[in-house]
Amino acid sequence: MEKRAEKIRVVLVPLPLQGHITPIMQLGKALNLKGFSITVAQGECNQVSSSQHLSGFQFVTIPETVPVSQYERRPVEFVMKLNKTSEASFKDCIAQLLLQQGSDIACIIYDELMYFCGATAKEFNLPSIIFSTTTATHKFCCSVLSKLNSKKFLIDMQDPEVQDKEVENLHPLRYKDLPTSGMGPLEPYFELLREIIKKRTASAVIINTTSCLENSSLSWLQQELGIPVYPLGPLHILSSVKSSLLKEDKNCIEWLNKQKPKSVIYVSFGSLALMETKDVLEMVCGLFNSNQPFLLVIRPGSILGSEWIESLPEEVSKMVSKRGYIVKWAPQIEVLGHPALGGFWSHCGWNSTLESIVEGVPMICMPFIGEQKLNAKYIESVWRVGIKLEGEMERGGVERAVKRLIVDEESEGLRERAHVLREKLKASVRSGGSSYNALDELVKMLNFVHY
Ligand code: UDX
Repeated sequence: MEKRAEKIRVVLVPLPLQGHITPIMQLGKALNLKGFSITVAQGECNQVSSSQHLSGFQFVTIPETVPVSQYERRPVEFVMKLNKTSEASFKDCIAQLLLQQGSDIACIIYDELMYFCGATAKEFNLPSIIFSTTTATHKFCCSVLSKLNSKKFLIDMQDPEVQDKEVENLHPLRYKDLPTSGMGPLEPYFELLREIIKKRTASAVIINTTSCLENSSLSWLQQELGIPVYPLGPLHILSSVKSSLLKEDKNCIEWLNKQKPKSVIYVSFGSLALMETKDVLEMVCGLFNSNQPFLLVIRPGSILGSEWIESLPEEVSKMVSKRGYIVKWAPQIEVLGHPALGGFWSHCGWNSTLESIVEGVPMICMPFIGEQKLNAKYIESVWRVGIKLEGEMERGGVERAVKRLIVDEESEGLRERAHVLREKLKASVRSGGSSYNALDELVKMLNFVHY
């Protein structure tokens, strides 16, 4: 079967954001290892370069005109515009690929938010598969939200009883946990959710999760969609691939080597979160006062009004030089797997969540936007491998959270549960595990649709 697959090409279409590019490239690598050729069709912004040692990968450009920087402030508008502007050029791109000699496309696998691809696949009579970078529970919530009237929802949510009501079939989620924050006005957001559902023509869904994390939501998804669902996560342990858009600063590993085992708190809020100078100051003071060494990622441009860290007061550099280390971008998976790591203060992006669980590292959860809140709820209340940091950023709260996570008695239970969960996740990608089997099923399907 693997031999037959050698000539088969799969086209991948990522959303041009780090948290979406990484898992789809990992999927590409997993399929490449199963014998498929991979073509990545990407926009002009945030390109993964072909120089990143990806043999067996071809890269083509879909010219698009929406600056990626728009996502940070207006995610819904960005996604809608991107879908409108990319459709025609993607059609040209597929037509060109089909003209290339020996370019036999088995399937287009596209990020769920690049829903314009469905129509193109249909026009060329090619099978298509949706790739989801978030959880099945998130899909469930999106389905709930898409059926709501935004005006009525806003009024209802002013009532604390409604906020605390459990969402049907989604225990322990309450209405206030639904992923609406940071998405801008509700009506366009709900409209986008409806659009994604309406434009769904794919014959299957691949999702970067695994059944031991969210079995009941996966069953719901399977039933709701009526098409095969392949939960093959965590993809980063199935196949690793270099797809960082920013340069990783490996010097922090040397700094980690000098720290005591399980002592360091690693702080990173992913690829999109923005913060104010005053909050970063409170954060660093709290980290310093906890007496634990800290490794802090501050992306260029992530502090509002500052290119990097020049807006921070002098006292910050003093505290960092005594007990901390700052990088612009860390080799995160390596950091999380380092023996000095005691905990991860995270924004709870889905990739970071999976990476942390796989290394058995407990988390402080501080979600920023969208489904991060949902992930935080599961980390704290369902898998019980983290604690939430709520309210205003304030040094006392930060200090307490770090101590709870790394020093206090409570930390032992968190670490133990994180280890148990880690073993379950690792088992799911080993031979006979649920994600391993799902990948095999997917490969069979890709071969079947091709011949
Ligand atoms: C966002 C959403 O929050 C996420 O849930 C969704 O699935 C994708 O878009 P993002 O903010 O990018 O994601 O966070 P996350 O999903 O955690 O992805 C960040 C990636 O960047 C991770 O793979 C992480 O390892 C990597 N990273 C982050 C680094 O390699 N170095 C860093 O310093 C910080």
